[in-house]
Amino acid sequence: MKIGIDSIGFQTAGYVFQLSELAKQYGIDPAKYEHGLMQKQMSVASPDEDVVTLGYGAAKQALYDCDDVESIKLLIFATETGVDQSKSAGMHLHRFLKLNPNCRVFELKQACYASSAALQLSVSMIRSDPKLKALIIASDIAKYGSGTPGEPTQGCGSVAMIVSANPKIMEIEPYSGVWSADENDFWRPCYSEVAFVDGKHSVQLYLSHLGNAWGNYKRQSGLSFADIDQVCYHTPFSKMAIKAHNELTRLNEVECNEKVNSTLHYTPYIGNCYTAALYVCLLSMLGNSGVDVSGKRVGMFAYGSGSVGEFFSGIVQNGYKQRIEPLSGSIQEALTSRKIIGFDKFREFYNFWNDYRGADVLTPAYSKNKLRLKGITEHKRVYELKDA
Ligand code: HMG
Repeated sequence: MKIGIDSIGFQTAGYVFQLSELAKQYGIDPAKYEHGLMQKQMSVASPDEDVVTLGYGAAKQALYDCDDVESIKLLIFATETGVDQSKSAGMHLHRFLKLNPNCRVFELKQACYASSAALQLSVSMIRSDPKLKALIIASDIAKYGSGTPGEPTQGCGSVAMIVSANPKIMEIEPYSGVWSADENDFWRPCYSEVAFVDGKHSVQLYLSHLGNAWGNYKRQSGLSFADIDQVCYHTPFSKMAIKAHNELTRLNEVECNEKVNSTLHYTPYIGNCYTAALYVCLLSMLGNSGVDVSGKRVGMFAYGSGSVGEFFSGIVQNGYKQRIEPLSGSIQEALTSRKIIGFDKFREFYNFWNDYRGADVLTPAYSKNKLRLKGITEHKRVYELKDA
């Protein structure tokens, strides 16, 4: 039985900041960001956008032609930008998406890896109950300290996927290679708004996890690099995917090739969206390959700091284009319709929730998206659905 991604959706914030502006502020050569990191812009969440509101937009897109919402029995919200230490961000969306009460809802965390853990978990559950459908929402807002090397890689976004039997987009193959190790390359303690990062160590660790996970995948699957047609990597900044691909081709003693280029159409304009980042690359590859990739095998490398790496693969299904073509149009529209903000607004948005300690607050109405965070009253998050 084939199990995998049946439908997919994407949402990013309504505001964007040019990295050339950031470079100007810090007196850094803009080429360092544009060519050194291969990043041009970052999506910036306004104070009334959070992982829930971004997740809503992505989920609505994934559900657009789902005529049996009743069959969604699992909602996994994958994030490392949780809005509550106890209640899952998915619980808010369970109401707004009008899901069934007999749907399991929970949140999953292991840095950027949680979305892929959610995918594998869903596939296993569907294998034992093929009627079940799962909704995975990967949603994050990346924040690093001002002036730190990580700052130009910031970004935000959400990807939602419906996982089911007989998927229309990509079947997930039954083998994968995992590599985990307790490390401190990137982490965010509960008391901190921003991540702590040992940047150079994180890059090296990512690459060594890639090698180890790939070795395990090869042993498990009996496949070789020649059997993989395209590779999507977790992409915190675009240059990382190039470094990863160079490493994988070096390990396999093949010439570096084109298997990665089509995955990088969106990331340079969005920035890191942690759990969603790998699936943004998948969306890019499916929509921008220039050729029909039906039947092709896609290698997927998930990495979450702290640290887990997993290499797995999927087979693109015939007819995927029918779903992806309209979606590619709306992704393009979402990117081009964002409002460009200058450095002062960027700072204002970035700092809005810093030092917030629980007083009642109404958020200024900035978001153009359907669902916005209206404020916090008596420690409860209050969301507002436009045209509801
Ligand atoms: P840095 O200090 O900017 O590094 O930090 P750099 O000085 O080596 O410069 C970066 C690149 O720019 C280099 O290219 C330079 O040569 C080049 P490379 O050698 O790497 O190919 N460069 C220039 N190019 C053109 N013109 C110039 C110029 N100057 C320099 N004038 C670092 C970079 C990635 C470490 C930093 O941005 C950082 O700490 N980022 C955050 C951590 C990160 O993204 N790590 C990636 C792996 S871990 C991961 O992916 C997990 C994560 O998503 C979190 C999670 O799992 O939840 C982050």
